[in-house]
This record gives sequence, structure tokens and C-alpha cells, in this order.
Amino acid sequence: MDKIVVKGGCKLSGEVNISSAKNSVLPIIAASILCGDKCCIRNAPMLEDVIVICNVLKSLNADVTINKEDSSIIIDTSKVITGEPNSDLVGKMRASFLIMGPMISRFGKFRISLPGGCNIGTRPIDLHLKGFKALGAKISVSQGHVEASTSKLVGNKIYLDFPSVGATENIMMAAVLAEGDTTIENAAAEPEIEDLASFLNSMGAMIKGAGTDTIKITGVKKLDGVSHTPIYDRIEAGTFMIAAAVTKSKIKINGILEEHMKPVIAKLTECGVSMEIQGKSIVVDGDRELKPVDIKTMPYPGFPTDMQAQMMALLCTVRGTSLITETIFENRFMHASELKRMGANIKIDGRSAVIEGVERLSGAEVKATDLRAGAALILAAMAAEGSTTICDIYHIDRGYVEIENKFRRLGVEINRISE
Ligand code: EPZ
Repeated sequence: MDKIVVKGGCKLSGEVNISSAKNSVLPIIAASILCGDKCCIRNAPMLEDVIVICNVLKSLNADVTINKEDSSIIIDTSKVITGEPNSDLVGKMRASFLIMGPMISRFGKFRISLPGGCNIGTRPIDLHLKGFKALGAKISVSQGHVEASTSKLVGNKIYLDFPSVGATENIMMAAVLAEGDTTIENAAAEPEIEDLASFLNSMGAMIKGAGTDTIKITGVKKLDGVSHTPIYDRIEAGTFMIAAAVTKSKIKINGILEEHMKPVIAKLTECGVSMEIQGKSIVVDGDRELKPVDIKTMPYPGFPTDMQAQMMALLCTVRGTSLITETIFENRFMHASELKRMGANIKIDGRSAVIEGVERLSGAEVKATDLRAGAALILAAMAAEGSTTICDIYHIDRGYVEIENKFRRLGVEINRISE
């Protein structure tokens, strides 16, 4: 199993280019099922999760060509058949469940194994299923599978008990070819949902309000294949912003949309980090005395849960007492015990973590417990004294393109070792 070794006490300098958003590309690849035509995704992030969802579509007879040279993915879903996707692949990544809406919409029936939870939480799908039922699908759950069938989908008004990102995306994709109008209220407003809606609208869908808490969809008869370049990955950008802060360095990050970075910029500003937006880039200068802050993760435009672990790594090195409250997932503090192995002072009480900043973290053997926790450990390792070895880095490869090469080009002594 590969490991990443990081030599601590480094300073970063130079520039880094941010990749396209994993959490945009995954639903967009699922949405390509709806048109039964050829779609091209340009500047796609060559990530494990992206390859998994492409293989899920291949298991349903889609033609998928991934070109690593020009970072494009061409997907031809004209020959996709209904049936059950490869359950091993579906089990590898819960985002595979995002094909359910498109498959019900196109074929009127579909069966898929229930997506696994993961270590950050049980990750239920009740809101997805509630939406499909509201659109007229008959849903049954048995023996670890969920089955849907309908003669046709009919638009309806759906209120989400929680602004779930995946449920909003799945219901939107199920509604675009339904008969009549659908309104999703209390919808998630994440930028990746807006990106999915712009992809669907370019295919011929009629979606208004994506990126707000009320999305209106007017069903259309047909969608056509298109090309699309996804938005930048705001979580990868935020991760590099915190890398500058935790190493007291100044770097330039290329590939950001200021609007999407607001919650992270606001919190890092409160912490004392200096940032300057330059068009689609941001210059981050962390070389100053930082202040402890309190964070509460919330649905967008609140502070993103996907940035919580990275912020915890930073606050472990900031003198004073900080408080993090994780409101989105019930078990997303596993990185705390790994940070404590590096000398961090963190007390967990349910969904709250109290962090007392320490003078210096120390290198240690640690393990990535989920995608963002792994990234947080790399950040902590850069600031620590001595060398840190991070194992289970397959978590990190799911969501960060060539993370060690990007950090090495910024001056970090970081290497991947295969054992
Ligand atoms: C998406 O997951 C992201 N994944 C996650 O990113 C991100 O952390 C999450 O949104 C929150 O922003 C992708 O986009 C592929 P949710 P998703 O449905 O859609 C509850 C990363 O690191 N819920 O908004 O699964 C659920 O239990 C990953 O890139 C229900 O109760 O998130 C959770 O507490 C990790 N019933 C909360 O909503 C449902 O039917 C948020 O889940 C669905 C969700």
C-alpha cells in the first residue's frame, strides 16, 4: 500500500494550478446518461472516483474514453441498457448512486445495490428516494438493493427535510425529462449543483434557481449531448490556502472563483491570514501571527464540511483556544486522533472539538481516515518538526489530483513510497 512521507518545517513558494471539481464531475458524468448521446468533459480531474463512476457507466454498456493526455472524458451513452450496475464498483463509491435519477428517468426502471455508508457517517438516501417517489416512481428496498419502476415521471413539488447535495442532484436529474414542472424546496445550493444545472441546461433542460434553495425544473422531451468544462475545485483551492497559512508561506493559487471561496476566505481572514484576489487567482500570505477562531460547518454558503479537517490541522498550530462544530456528518472527527499522535491538543465532545494550539507539532506515523482527513494530515506534517509518514493514502487519491507533485512544486519535501 502506498504511503506519503513529508519532511516538516518547510516553507512554500510559487504557484499552484487548481483542478476541476470532483464533486461537479461525478454528477455530470451520471447526467450524461440522460441524453443517450455523446458528451465530452474537458479538463476533467483524473481522480480515482472519476474513474470509478466511468467504470460504473461502462458496466451499463456506455462507451467511455478517458484521455489523460488532454484530460478529457468522452462518454457515449447511446447504447446504455437498463439493468444492474456492477455492485463492486457501486460499493466503492457512494456517489455512484447519482446514476439512479438518470436511469429511472431514461428507462423507467432501475435496480442498484444500496450505497455503503463510509466512516464519516451513515450517509442515508431517504431524501433521494422521497424525491423519486414524489415524481411517481415505485420504490422498494430489499436485500441490500433499491429498485425503482414507473411508466413515466410526473413533475411535483418536493421539500427536502435537509438540503442534501446528492438528493438535490439526483432529483434534479430525474425531473428534467419528467412530464410537467418540478420545484425542489430547501434544495442544496452548492456551486457544484449550479454547475450540474448549467450542464443539463446546455443539453436542453429547463432549470432555474440552481445555486439557491428553490430550484424550478420544466420537463422537456429530449436532451442532446454537449461538451462541458467543470468549475474549479473550491475544496482543493481551500486546502492549498490552508497550506500557505500552516507553513507561514506566501503562494499564488490559480483557478478559483471568488464567489465560491467566500466562506473560506472569510474564516481565514478572521484568523489573520492575508489574501488578495487577482482575477481567477488568489495570493495567500500566512506569514503572520494567526488568531484562534470558532467554526461551525453548514450547508453552502456556510463553512464547508469538506474543509473542516484542514482547518483543524491549522488551528492545532494557532496559539489559543478554537472550537469546531461539525453539523453535517455525525462522525467526521477521526482525523483528531491522528493529529493528537502528532502532539495536537484536541478534546472531542460529540459534534464539537476544542483545540488548544501547541507551539509545534511533531512528525509521526499516521493514517488517512477519509479523503479530507488525509489532506489535513499532509498539511499538519508540513508544519511539524521532523518527518511524518501517512498511510492509507488511497483516500487522498480519490479527491486530489497528484497532490504530492503539486506540493513538491511549491517546495515541500514530500514523496510517495510504494510498499
Ligand atoms: C456531497 O455528499 C459531497 N460528495 C461530499 O463531499 C460533501 O461532504 C457533502 O455533499 C456535503 O457537502 C459529492 O458531492 C460526491 P449530503 P452527499 O447528501 O451528497 C444527510 C468529499 O470529501 N442525508 O449533502 O452524500 C447525510 O446523512 C465528499 O468530497 C440524509 O439524511 O452529502 C448528511 O448528514 C465527502 N438523507 C447530510 O445529509 C439523504 O437522503 C449531508 O449529506 C441524504 C443525505
